Amino acid sequence: MGRLSSILFCLIFSTTAVFAYDVYKDHTQDVEARVQDLLKRMTLAEKIGQMTQIERIVANYSVIKDYYIGSIISGGGSAPEPKASVDTWQNMIDYLQAGAIVTRLQIPMIYAIDAVHGHNNVYGAVIFPHNIGLGCTRDPDLVKRIGAATALEVRATGISYFFAPCIAACRDPR
Ligand SMILES: *[C@@H]1O[C@H](CO)[C@@H](O)[C@H](O)[C@H]1NC(C)=O
Repeated sequence: MGRLSSILFCLIFSTTAVFAYDVYKDHTQDVEARVQDLLKRMTLAEKIGQMTQIERIVANYSVIKDYYIGSIISGGGSAPEPKASVDTWQNMIDYLQAGAIVTRLQIPMIYAIDAVHGHNNVYGAVIFPHNIGLGCTRDPDLVKRIGAATALEVRATGISYFFAPCIAACRDPR
């Protein structure tokens, strides 16, 4: 009898799992359909959290989980520790991502970083001249290849979004 109820339990459990289908989590669906499905499920608090990007210094598992934070940024100089290794960066991002994944809708957060002249927050990264210096080369192909090299190093630290290159257009405040 005990075994029979276990089998019944398993059957019911797997049936429930099959019917828990969320359009927004299905990558084979049309993007617009997924967006509409997700938006109609979201509370106001979840929407506010998703539109918020906070600095790494104030981010932790609980803050991300409790406020549904959509994005975290490492601004200039914002590293998890001095001379942090690639592993330390990856572990920090995994830990923060875990706080996003346990939320009701399981929306992953986006980690962002200023990588304006190479992956400049990261110890040991290749450092390139600042954007004004790159502009002076008048060599778009070289600048593109520098961007690709920087993107590779950013990705290696577990980050998928960075703020660069920057077009620092000169302005005359008068
Ligand atoms: C997370 O950050 C908040 C706000 O700074 C703080 O109140 C809380 O104690 C922190 N929690 C942990 C587990 O560090």
